[in-house]
Amino acid sequence: MIKTVEFLANGHVALIDQRLLPTEEVIVTCTTYQELAEAIRNMTVRGAPAIGVSAAGGCALGARQIATDNLAAFKTKFEEICRVIAGTRPTAVNLFWAVDRMRRVAAAHNGPVAALKQALTAEAEKILVEDLFINETMGNNGAVLLADGDTVLTHCNAGALATAGHFGTALGVMKAAHLAGKKIKVFSDETRPFLQGARLTAWELKKEGIDVTLITDNMAGYFMKKGMINKVVVGADRIAANGDAANKIGTYSVAVLAKEHNIPFYVAAPLSTIDFNIPDGSHIPIEERDTREVSHIGNRQVAPDGVRILNPAFDVTPNKYIAGIITEKGVARAPFNESLAKLRQI
Ligand code: MRU
Repeated sequence: MIKTVEFLANGHVALIDQRLLPTEEVIVTCTTYQELAEAIRNMTVRGAPAIGVSAAGGCALGARQIATDNLAAFKTKFEEICRVIAGTRPTAVNLFWAVDRMRRVAAAHNGPVAALKQALTAEAEKILVEDLFINETMGNNGAVLLADGDTVLTHCNAGALATAGHFGTALGVMKAAHLAGKKIKVFSDETRPFLQGARLTAWELKKEGIDVTLITDNMAGYFMKKGMINKVVVGADRIAANGDAANKIGTYSVAVLAKEHNIPFYVAAPLSTIDFNIPDGSHIPIEERDTREVSHIGNRQVAPDGVRILNPAFDVTPNKYIAGIITEKGVARAPFNESLAKLRQI
């Protein structure tokens, strides 16, 4: 089983360094909440649920290191830690969802500081364990949508590496179908500029023994037209109340291509990825990342010095392109305002 995030007994947070995969498997141990915040910022850990779980661990780690027995002083310092961790990346709502869960534990506590530290560690553990369980359930809910013989296209990495570990979200659907004995094949977009598809999805699926073919992003239309892709399943970083879904840049283009070729396009995400506070995708903040991700591949420069570069990390797929949103509570279908709200109440 791939373990993406692990909380050690001393509160430190161990992460598989996703910047080095697939050629090196290195575990990085964050010994302070500042190190954990930097690990989210620099993509040592990435993927919406994995960011949320790591953030919870970072809050618990920071809390353990606050040196005061005074509850009010502790809560002030803890809020500062929450703010730093929540400031690492803007798009994946799981980050804010997890930090808010930690905040609520602190806000509800009136006893000794030592007990609050324990409660925060327990809450982070709970978030991690729930993530593993939710992803397996979601995988099983989505697997019924895949048929024996399907070839499924995915974009970016929405697998174990994007969650606490084990199943993942979109790849969890494929893993569950595979475990159910369906013979499926996966096409993985390489996902420029950070190459999560080439480096992470291809690595993860090979490890799981699932038939994976790597293609560059601009090949998706070619293979759809040839009838070589039957379904698309991707993850999401934030889904608005109406079902508009933000995911890795390039997902929107895949969705439009899928519509043109009558290929069902599914999004797999836990309910913690749905932001019921925003009515539609226009309210989702899109992260702009370092232009070096575009001007370079690894350490090799591939663009001229000084050329203007844009690097939005995500795009929003309008709900009209989405055949279904696979969650741990079931599959939501259009109209998503109603179906997602119903799932939330289960
Ligand atoms: O920038 P990243 O690598 O954090 O972006 C990740 C994605 O876009 C994933 O597809 C998304 O988080 C779904 S994860 C289960």
